[in-house]
Amino acid sequence: MALENKIDEILLKLDNLTVESIAEKYPTTHPNVNPLDYYRIHISELLAPITGVAPDKILPAIYWTNALDKGDFSLPIPALRIKGAKPDALGAEWAAKFPEDDPLIEKPVAAGTFLSFFIRGGPLTQSLIPMIRSLGVEYGRNRFLGLKDPKDPSKGRKRIVVEFSSPNIAKPFHAGHLRSTIIGSFLANLYEGAGWDVVRINYLGDWGKQYGLLALAYERYGDEEALKKDPIDHLFRLYVRINAEKEEDLAAIEAKKKEGQDVTELLANSLDEQARRYFRKMTDRDEKALALWKRFRDLSIVRYKATYARLNIKFDEYSGESQVSEEAMEKVAKQMAGKKITKEDQGAVLVDFTELIPGKEGKRLGKTVIRKRDGTALYLTRDIAELLGRYEKYNFDHMIYVVASQQDLHLQQLFKIIELLGYKDIAARCQHINFGLVLGMSTRKGTVKFLDDILRDCADHMHEVMRKNEAKYAQVEDPEGTADTLGISSVMTQDMSGKRGNNYTFDLAVMTSFEGDTGPYLQYAHTRLSSIKRRANVSDEELANADLSLLTEPHAVNVVRLLAQWPDVAQNTLRTLEPTTVVTYLFRLTHVISSSYDHLQVVGSDPALKAARMALYDAARIVVGNCMRLLGLTPLER
Ligand code: ARG
Repeated sequence: MALENKIDEILLKLDNLTVESIAEKYPTTHPNVNPLDYYRIHISELLAPITGVAPDKILPAIYWTNALDKGDFSLPIPALRIKGAKPDALGAEWAAKFPEDDPLIEKPVAAGTFLSFFIRGGPLTQSLIPMIRSLGVEYGRNRFLGLKDPKDPSKGRKRIVVEFSSPNIAKPFHAGHLRSTIIGSFLANLYEGAGWDVVRINYLGDWGKQYGLLALAYERYGDEEALKKDPIDHLFRLYVRINAEKEEDLAAIEAKKKEGQDVTELLANSLDEQARRYFRKMTDRDEKALALWKRFRDLSIVRYKATYARLNIKFDEYSGESQVSEEAMEKVAKQMAGKKITKEDQGAVLVDFTELIPGKEGKRLGKTVIRKRDGTALYLTRDIAELLGRYEKYNFDHMIYVVASQQDLHLQQLFKIIELLGYKDIAARCQHINFGLVLGMSTRKGTVKFLDDILRDCADHMHEVMRKNEAKYAQVEDPEGTADTLGISSVMTQDMSGKRGNNYTFDLAVMTSFEGDTGPYLQYAHTRLSSIKRRANVSDEELANADLSLLTEPHAVNVVRLLAQWPDVAQNTLRTLEPTTVVTYLFRLTHVISSSYDHLQVVGSDPALKAARMALYDAARIVVGNCMRLLGLTPLER
């Protein structure tokens, strides 16, 4: 394991540690990718003789802070569980005993039941900036976290399946799909950064009677050219048209029935019935019926792929409800019946949780149908077989379903059935990541049809905002492309700013503004850092040799202290699984960077100072870019 920088050597000497002894003694730390881990180790080593607590027991009690004026770390004294002593008295005593002149850490401040620690700016600055610049896009990633056995990398990485986006063919792509796409892609990136083997699955809604209806519509009104040109749009139009006809058809039959006519024959030939028969042909694997449907699906996937590419998203698998085989469902049906999980009720098969599970839980889960009387399977039936199929195929350590809160019950029922089937350990590996609603989302061109429409609308709006500043607008090389990226950043940032579970209102004016905590503001922050680098024109060699001890101003040190937190923030996000953990940090960071500019002039300063400050801003650019990429944003250079 190579040492990334000088500070490591100093520290190893200071505490009489080696890379190997750290791995042995502090197995949860990764000091070669997380600079703050060294500091936590160092504090633990210093405090051990003072407190009489073993250093490896101190380390996990050292927390980060959420404001720089509260220090870089804080230690809640009660967490060390020292019997009989008053925490605040202990705090004062320990602070007094702490060395005055430690090279890395200032004497801690005792505040009530806490000790606050401040890192000394000089050594941190001098070790961190080169570390960030040498790690580049890797800074903030931690390939060790996803190892099956942290002590033995040859055992391989843990595997996670992330299912997200999952729209329905020929139906509108609604806000729920938008959020699933944004949050799911973020989570997949997060796990990838933590060294997991990530499988991204898009589970399309592409099966059911409605696809029989769609096929009928195509037979009647289909247009080969239109289908090829824009399958998503064409299929959606057909779908809307044929559904209206189906409704009219049923209403007409209903009216005749009211007049007392015999409608048996009409019903047998109704559109609804024809659709049912067509779908039956599909489930019976009729080749012609399947071929048409497969074309719809394949062409739609081609279009989806292009749109997802705009968001930097690639799926490893386009699965879908249609891909769940009747045999697989048959097999679990037998298992469920054998375990008496299902029961028959007037020809239908259902699961009655109220009978299977006593008390509140069973009541909450209720009753649900698994097979209809006509023998057709349902959404839940397919999910059960699909889940087990995925386990067989991927042997995942964890699986995440990114689906709106409206489907909480559905997923609880799904996981519970897997558990009742005797696959407790598989059920325990599955997790539903849910999220709230988006209120007021409709585009100006009418109802939302597909993701493209949403993104185009944001880009159009963004373009208008940009045009308002004529002077700046004239300088933008590719206004269309820039507006597009900014528009996408707006939607995504707005979506990830609050907690997942909260609802939010889709507000084009707010999210496309350059002021406030918005996507355009983040892009502005990144382009400003990029432009300093262009204007300063300092060579890589000068940057590498810059005298970083010149960075003594509090503004410089504060930027560095925040940059040091990034690996911690990423690791903490793995616990919260909330994009806002990253977004909040990123806004704190960009605000601190932005308020430093007036104090740390680059262009125009003398060469040594210029190089040092440029190195600082270069490190800042790397971290801002890394945060943005984790969120799924494309950092702009200009
Ligand atoms: N296609 C579904 C819908 O639009 C979402 C699928 C969620 N995933 C699942 N495995 N059930 O509602």
